[in-house]
Amino acid sequence: MPLPLPSIAKSGVTRRDFIGTAGAFLASQLFLSSSLRGITLDQHLKTLRLGFLTDCHAMAEHDAPSWLERTAEIMNSLRPDLIIGGGDFVHGGFTSTGKTMDQRWVIASSFLNRLKVRLEPLIGNHDLYEPLTADGKVSDNDPRRRWKHHFQRPLTYRSFQFHGYRFLMLDSIKVVGGENPYRGWISNAQMEWLDHELNRIPANQPIILCSHIPFKTSLRDSLGAMIKNVPGRVRVLNADSVLEKLSQRPLIAILQGHIHLNERVEYNGIPCITGGAVCGKWWEGPNMGTYPGIGLVEIIPTGVSSAKGSRDIDWSYLNTPNPVKSLGNVLS
Ligand SMILES: [Fe+2]
Repeated sequence: MPLPLPSIAKSGVTRRDFIGTAGAFLASQLFLSSSLRGITLDQHLKTLRLGFLTDCHAMAEHDAPSWLERTAEIMNSLRPDLIIGGGDFVHGGFTSTGKTMDQRWVIASSFLNRLKVRLEPLIGNHDLYEPLTADGKVSDNDPRRRWKHHFQRPLTYRSFQFHGYRFLMLDSIKVVGGENPYRGWISNAQMEWLDHELNRIPANQPIILCSHIPFKTSLRDSLGAMIKNVPGRVRVLNADSVLEKLSQRPLIAILQGHIHLNERVEYNGIPCITGGAVCGKWWEGPNMGTYPGIGLVEIIPTGVSSAKGSRDIDWSYLNTPNPVKSLGNVLS
């Protein structure tokens, strides 16, 4: 059954209003000290408001286009400085035909065109285009071609600088074919590229790492009888190799999607923030208690070192009414 759309005015929606109407919402404030991991940061860094939009799963069913339209309206009203698109813009990468995916990209495009703020996208497993042959083997065609075409980007990973912050946008999908056709994995090409990037990035530039599949999550690869143990289904298997490269860098946070849950875990003092899905439980309500929604992450330089010499973090998760008791479909 389609969910009721949040009732908001067309403009002037405050953050409080948004929280009240949209239900599932990740509100995260990261207070950035003047030094991080013992590295002195630029004193001129300003507060950054990041809109976080992940797992949209655009489709024609379930009144999704209306939801997406309203989602864009809400995001615009929050006036973020930048929007991170967490991947899975469309639904069906491994299960739908190219023709169906083309139709869904049209819906996604209509939605994304409504956003008034720069969007920086990640690729998700559902964004792949006919990645397998009819017998389930890995196709010779580039499964990332539709995403690349849509966003007019030659590669699905990159870094960019924004207001003094460095964003690392990674492609966390490895297509392996078979019954469980993908894994969370950072390719060797990206590992080499990352080495080059880190050589040219100032050592004290604060970094925000973004990945569709989580680097760190409390969710297990196996969920009892419902989900078989599939390593790499909910996490990037070689995440630690990436984090090792960043161990001497001021890594502020990791933003991640894929599991359709609001979650925050901490790894060596680094907040790993997973955003709940725009589509919730694939347009059929909340997923494990996380309602459809979008996120806002504020990075606030305080100029004041915390007692630990890193930073203080104040993070609030907003509980929603009527949590789903069943685990439901937590993976896709
Ligand atoms: Fe997803």
